[in-house]
Amino acid sequence: MQISHIKYFQNWIPIIGKWMYEEWSYAFPLRTLQDIQKNLFGRMNENEMPITLVAHDERGVLGTASLKASDMETLTELTPWLSSVYVHPDHRGEGVAQALVSEIEKIARRQGHGKLYVFNPITQGVFEKLGWSVLQTLRYGGKELGILVKDISAPA
Ligand SMILES: CC(C)(COP(=O)(O)OP(=O)(O)OC[C@H]1O[C@@H](n2cnc3c(N)ncnc32)[C@H](O)[C@@H]1OP(=O)(O)O)[C@@H](O)C(=O)NCCC(=O)NCCS
Repeated sequence: MQISHIKYFQNWIPIIGKWMYEEWSYAFPLRTLQDIQKNLFGRMNENEMPITLVAHDERGVLGTASLKASDMETLTELTPWLSSVYVHPDHRGEGVAQALVSEIEKIARRQGHGKLYVFNPITQGVFEKLGWSVLQTLRYGGKELGILVKDISAPA
């Protein structure tokens, strides 16, 4: 499996945009599929946020994750955010998310950040397994979300 910047795999943007649209429309109800795809086509910078990565192998695109300065309309004082971690259902449980998250942490650390934030429905518990802890919970987009934080100052 390889992890690359989306810049090099723009042909996968329509698929990735659809994943994001379907998974997170509860949090961003006004955002259209076209908005998401347009944003992704704008993410051609490898060093400045927002940064979007794709995981891929000979089977094609497996998943995606992003690093953004902010990811919610609230909590704007927290930065940066691990955002839009999504692995296609056919490829879950193979460590794809773990590899993507680890690469995002590396990029954030290189940029001088000591902490990284993410939001996730509180019932899911995925990020706790990857070393994240719940900072607070809140109701957002009709769901109970956990805001999680990870100390990334030292490499894992
Ligand atoms: C959550 C998601 C990204 C996990 O992707 P994945 O590639 O299957 O995850 P990995 O194989 O890298 O697993 C990483 C760890 O998380 C755990 N995990 C994975 N999916 C999980 C789930 N649905 N619930 C609880 N834990 C989960 C795994 O057990 C693993 O821990 P372990 O190695 O100790 O067993 C994937 O299920 C997905 O895309 N879901 C829909 C979108 C989403 O919820 N994204 C997260 C919010 S941004």
